[in-house]
Amino acid sequence: MVLYQLTFLLFALIDHATAAMPKFVFAHFIGGNAASLTQDQWESEIRLAKHSLIDGFALNIAQQDTNTENILQKAYAAAENVGDFSLFLSFDYLSGGPWPVDRVVDTINKYKESPAQFYYNGRPLVSTFEGVANINDWPGIRNKTGCFAIPDWTSLGPQRFAEVRHNVDGFFSWDAWPAGANNKSLYSDRVWKNATHGRPYMMPVSPWFYTNLSQWNKNWLWKGAQLWTERWEQIYRFQPDLVQIISWNDYGESHYIGPVHADGIPQGAARYVENNHHDAWRELLPYFIASYKFGDRSRIRIARDTLVYWYRPNPNQSGSNGGTTGNCPQQGQQAMDPAALAEDKIYIAVLVKEPSWISVQIGSNNITSLYADRAGLSTFEVPFDGQTGNTKFWIMRNRTEVAYTTGPAITADCVDGIVNWNAIVGST
Ligand SMILES: *[C@@H]1O[C@H](CO)[C@@H](O)[C@H](O)[C@H]1NC(C)=O
Ligand SMILES: *[C@@H]1O[C@H](CO)[C@@H](O)[C@H](O)[C@H]1NC(C)=O
Ligand SMILES: *[C@@H]1O[C@H](CO)[C@@H](O)[C@H](O)[C@H]1NC(C)=O
Ligand SMILES: *[C@@H]1O[C@H](CO)[C@@H](O)[C@H](O)[C@H]1NC(C)=O
Ligand SMILES: *[C@@H]1O[C@H](CO)[C@@H](O)[C@H](O)[C@H]1NC(C)=O
Ligand SMILES: *[C@@H]1O[C@H](CO)[C@@H](O)[C@H](O)[C@H]1NC(C)=O
Ligand SMILES: *[C@@H]1O[C@H](CO)[C@@H](O)[C@H](O)[C@H]1NC(C)=O
Repeated sequence: MVLYQLTFLLFALIDHATAAMPKFVFAHFIGGNAASLTQDQWESEIRLAKHSLIDGFALNIAQQDTNTENILQKAYAAAENVGDFSLFLSFDYLSGGPWPVDRVVDTINKYKESPAQFYYNGRPLVSTFEGVANINDWPGIRNKTGCFAIPDWTSLGPQRFAEVRHNVDGFFSWDAWPAGANNKSLYSDRVWKNATHGRPYMMPVSPWFYTNLSQWNKNWLWKGAQLWTERWEQIYRFQPDLVQIISWNDYGESHYIGPVHADGIPQGAARYVENNHHDAWRELLPYFIASYKFGDRSRIRIARDTLVYWYRPNPNQSGSNGGTTGNCPQQGQQAMDPAALAEDKIYIAVLVKEPSWISVQIGSNNITSLYADRAGLSTFEVPFDGQTGNTKFWIMRNRTEVAYTTGPAITADCVDGIVNWNAIVGST
C-alpha cells in the first residue's frame, strides 16, 4: 500500500522535474542463482522490484553455465509480460572464465530487439563483471551490436581505465564496500567518475558483505553497519548518471535484497542465508530512489510510518569466527579480526510523517527510547550491550503507538557454533 502511494507521488514529481538526462536504478541479478525459477516466479521478482521503483535488472550471466540461454529466455519473456521494466546483460568474466567474442555478440543481438531490453542513449546497454584481459574485444563487440558498453573493470584501477576508456561508453564501479573499519565515502566514486572523462558513471550501492564458500575459497566480510542508508545519502548528493544495487539475489555474498529462494542458495551458504531475510531493506527504496531521481527530497511526503531494522543474530564473540577475515587478503587487503568490523548493534532507519519517538527492546531488558526529530528519514544505532533475546520496535507519536513489530532473537547460541555474520532485516 505505502509503495503504491509513494510510487504515485514520485511519478507526479517526476513529471514536473526538468528535462535533465533521465536517471535509472538497476539491481544486479545473478542468473546462476535463478536456474530453478519458473517464468511466473520471474514475473513475481520483477513486480517486487517495480514496487520498489527499481527500473530493471542487470542480468549476470556466466559463459560456462549451461542454463544461461534458458534463464535469459524466461527473464526477457517475464519482463515483457509484466511491462515497464527493463533488462540488460552483464557478462561475468570471472565466474566460469572469459566470454568468447562471438558469443557476446550473438547474445546481445539475440535479445536487443526485445521490448524489455534497456536502451541508453538509443543503444542497448551492456555491462560486465570484470573481464580486464578482454578489453580489446569491445570495439568489435560495439561495432557488431551497436551496444552502449558500461563495463565494470574495477580491478584495472582508474588510471589504466582512463587509458582504455575509448573502447567503451562508460564505467560501472564494483567498489561498494569500505576497507577495514572505515566508512565508505564518495572518494572512489569521484575518482572513477573523473576517469570516465564525461562518459556516464554507474555508481554501486550494496547493503552488506559476508561470504563463506569453501568451493571458491572465499571467507571474508566487509563492514556493513549503516552502508544501505549512508550510500543512498551519497547517491542523493552525488547524483550519478546511473545506479546499480549489488545485489538482488547474490545469496553467497549476503548482499541480496530480493526474496530468498532456497534452490538458488550456493552450497555451504544456507547456514547464513536461509533464515536471514533481507526483503525489508526494499521498503526504504521508494524513498531513496525518489530522492535520487527528483534531486529534492524535501517535497517527498511519507505515506505511511515505517521502521526498518537490521542486525546480526549473534554477538561478535559468541562462537567461532569460522575462519572469516575482516577484509579480503586475496585482494591485497590487510586481514583483520571480523569482530573488529562487525559491531554489536541494531541498526534502524525510520520514515515518519511527523517527528516521533522510537522505542527498542532486546529481550526483557530496559527499553531504549530515541527521537526522530523530523518528518522523513532518520537513522539510529542501538548497541547490544550484552543483551540477548527477541527484539521489539515501536514508533510512538503523541503517546500513541503508530507502528510495532518484533524481530528474531539476538542469541549467543550460534548455528553450528559459528557466528552468523549475515544480517537479518525486518520492518513494521
Ligand atoms: C561497423 O563498422 C563498419 C565499418 O566501419 C560500419 O560500416 C558499420 O556501420 C559498423 N556497425 C556498427 C553497428 O557500428
Ligand atoms: C562512521 O560513521 C559513523 C556514523 O554513521 C560514525 O559514528 C563513525 O565514527 C564513523 N567511523 C569512522 C571510522 O569514521
Ligand atoms: C582525473 O583524471 C585525469 C585523467 O583523465 C587525471 O590526470 C587526474 O589525476 C584525475 N583526477 C582525480 C582527482 O582523480
Ligand atoms: C567457511 O570457510 C572455511 C575456509 O575456507 C571452510 O573451511 C569452511 O568449510 C567454510 N564453511 C562453509 C559452510 O562453507
Ligand atoms: C565486538 O564485541 C565486543 C564484545 O561484545 C565489543 O566490545 C566490540 O565493541 C564489538 N566490536 C565492534 C566493532 O563493535
Ligand atoms: C533499567 O531501568 C531501571 C529503572 O530505571 C534501572 O534501575 C536499571 O539500572 C536499568 N538497567 C540497566 C541495565 O540499565
Ligand atoms: C500530535 O500533536 C501535535 C501537537 O501536540 C499536533 O500538532 C499533531 O497534529 C499531532 N499528531 C497526530 C498524529 O495526532
